[in-house]
Amino acid sequence: MYFDTAQGMRPAPLKHNPFNALVMPRPIGWISTLDANGVANLAPYSYFNAVSADPPFVMFSANAPGPGQSKDTWKNLAAVPEFVVSLVCEADGIAMNATSQPFPPGVDEFAACGVASLPCERVRPPRVASAKAALECRVYQFVHLPKSADGRESHVVIGEVVGIHIADDVIHDGRVDERLMVPLTRLGYLNYGTLGKVFEMIRPT
Ligand SMILES: Cc1cc2nc3c(=O)[nH]c(=O)nc-3n(C[C@H](O)[C@H](O)[C@H](O)COP(=O)(O)O)c2cc1C
Repeated sequence: MYFDTAQGMRPAPLKHNPFNALVMPRPIGWISTLDANGVANLAPYSYFNAVSADPPFVMFSANAPGPGQSKDTWKNLAAVPEFVVSLVCEADGIAMNATSQPFPPGVDEFAACGVASLPCERVRPPRVASAKAALECRVYQFVHLPKSADGRESHVVIGEVVGIHIADDVIHDGRVDERLMVPLTRLGYLNYGTLGKVFEMIRPT
């Protein structure tokens, strides 16, 4: 099938927007920020990825739940333009999902969901203690996407990674071992995935 996106994102026979099921698997960034009062916020974002390795930059996209509404993560960055991306591993899946609840602004999801935190080195928001890796980021740029047909805003946040935490137990023979990281990935709809077969492919020269 083919469809023109200007006609809407649920053409027959599709029952739901297929976009998340096409662009996958996606890593899950567990993003922590601080509000103007210094209260921490934590929420998962799978419209998240690395965009450059050296210098290291990441992006994520905050998609408003409704017209005139905003994600707390996005609002907090106006007050404190720093964030931490804790990479979600399989063992943290249930806690990660709990922090995706639409808590009111000012609720600390670390405390509300029983997620232990640790301080960072170069940014003010805390990181997830159990994460095998965490990226300390400073906002580099915001990109405001056009609103959806029903008026929902989406904001892309590009961050410069200024510090990187890696758990010593995932480093093997001088490399980060994917098998020891055990990443959880986001697939389509409400589906998740874990690592399948891992193999090396040498690039042609
Ligand atoms: C696995 C997963 C991935 C998600 N990815 C995104 C995303 O990329 N962008 C987004 O706006 N919301 C995403 N959400 C929904 C937010 O986590 C949810 O709306 C949360 O309440 C936002 O919290 P905040 O308002 O504290 O920022 C995701 C939820 C889950 C469970």
